[in-house]
Amino acid sequence: MSSVKAEVIRPSEKPIPQEVYDKIDAFIEEQDNLEGALINVLHMAQGIMGYLPREVMVHVAKKMGVSAAEVYGVVSFYSFFSTKPVGKCKISICTGTACFVKGANVILEAFEKELGIKAGETTKDGMFSLREVRCIGACGLAPVINAEENVYGHIKVEDVKRIIQEQTDIIFGKKEE
Ligand code: FES
Repeated sequence: MSSVKAEVIRPSEKPIPQEVYDKIDAFIEEQDNLEGALINVLHMAQGIMGYLPREVMVHVAKKMGVSAAEVYGVVSFYSFFSTKPVGKCKISICTGTACFVKGANVILEAFEKELGIKAGETTKDGMFSLREVRCIGACGLAPVINAEENVYGHIKVEDVKRIIQEQTDIIFGKKEE
């Protein structure tokens, strides 16, 4: 049985600029092997938009001659794809086995409480997105989280506020002394 969660994907709140579709089409036309290109195309589209709105997934499906269900299946399988707008700072909480046994669920709850959102959501001010990921390959540092370029290991609940503050300072460009 698949562990992929069913999710309603709503249309984008703003119209997608034609320029976005033009860039996606040009990228698709450059591909030699369309069959193996779907992930690359979706990656490129997410690079432009920051996420993959429903209209873009449907457009990619039509242009590449595959079903929308196939595109959505790929998008929902890989955690680096997002179907919702994401925050300036993406915080990923590893809930893989090693991190889970070291209390990753408690860390996740602490981030959810501090940011006022659940995993898979973005704060209303567009600053932070929170998500659960499976093993990020740093099990020796469990429990581990990743915030943009930074990996934080041996995380405790008391560290959560500090990490959010550090990332807020990075977003606003404050330099460390
Ligand atoms: S299980 Fe969390 S880094 Fe491996």
